[in-house]
Amino acid sequence: EKGTYPHYMLKEIDEQPFVIRNIITKYKDDNENIKLDENVRQAVLGADRIYIIAAGTSYHAGLVGKELIEKIAGIPVETHIASEFLYNMPLLSQKPLFIFISQSGETADSRGVLVNVKKLGHSTLTITNVPGSTLSREADYTLHTYAGPEIAVASTKAYTAQMAVLAIMAVDAARASGMEMNFDPLQELGIVANAMEIFTEQKDVLEQIARDYLSVSRNCFFIGRAADYHVCMEGALKLKEISYIQAEGFAGGELKHGTIALIEEGTPVIGLATQEKVHLNLRGNMKEVVARGANPCMISMEGFQEDDDNIVIPKVHDYLTPLVSVLPLQLISYYAALHRGCDVDKPRNLAKSVTVE
Ligand code: F6R
Repeated sequence: EKGTYPHYMLKEIDEQPFVIRNIITKYKDDNENIKLDENVRQAVLGADRIYIIAAGTSYHAGLVGKELIEKIAGIPVETHIASEFLYNMPLLSQKPLFIFISQSGETADSRGVLVNVKKLGHSTLTITNVPGSTLSREADYTLHTYAGPEIAVASTKAYTAQMAVLAIMAVDAARASGMEMNFDPLQELGIVANAMEIFTEQKDVLEQIARDYLSVSRNCFFIGRAADYHVCMEGALKLKEISYIQAEGFAGGELKHGTIALIEEGTPVIGLATQEKVHLNLRGNMKEVVARGANPCMISMEGFQEDDDNIVIPKVHDYLTPLVSVLPLQLISYYAALHRGCDVDKPRNLAKSVTVE
């Protein structure tokens, strides 16, 4: 039930700190260690390469998941769009593990891949919000995202939950293989949950940004580098699907190779700079678009902020910034859609689960 909320989407955005705390509880044992199915652990450890298969927002979580698993556990990962993988399968490694990320567990494109790779005898794991779903039943193993039912068509809390579970899974594998690990995901996710509350409790700033930047715009660009780039892709998808504003998430350094031609006087460009290695490069990219007339909105993280940044996210662990930086983007999309009179929870042409190819 959406209770006093005008829309499910807003309710689900607000639920994210609770979802993250719930995940911490569900994945913690009595000794404060990670609790994870031994079979899942062995499947991850036994893989020489992980193939993440997903669609839409879950694909974007998979892009972040690749970085988490590679950096934390040292296992090579490829993330693929399910519908592409289905008819254009890349060369596979000797001992692949397939991870299907799906909020609904019913996405036909992902299921098509699951059926094919099972025929080849490969090991399969589904990360889903619906444990009894098709992808969950048909895969060898399941990890539950515990986000609670997601009703709004635009996915929000499922995305952050998927990334949280991927981080926990990666650390579990790293520890089980004897790697030194000074990143405690259960503790760091607690900090993430607190950081999320800054946005769920102070929505007026984001409503104002939506009003200032997006009430009449035709298009909008989101630029970021490294993990921020993947969050930008998700921010753009959110904005497109509910506000019908043409939006594009772009790698900051790639814009100048063509797409910058689209920047006109007043084009909104939302820049995301939370990554230590590249935040200054991104600021350079923002200057390039501002010089062409863009209307810049800068989102940075504590520690790397500059005076006129529009939003500063609280400091969280470098691995987990996407879980927090996506919140302002979700809220900006929500208010942009609201101001433009769109049906936030049921955008045109879309269904909550896509059960056809
Ligand atoms: C976007 C959105 C879709 C889904 C995609 C995959 O807000 O909801 O892009 O993420 O259709 O759905 P699942 O995760 O159920 O496989």
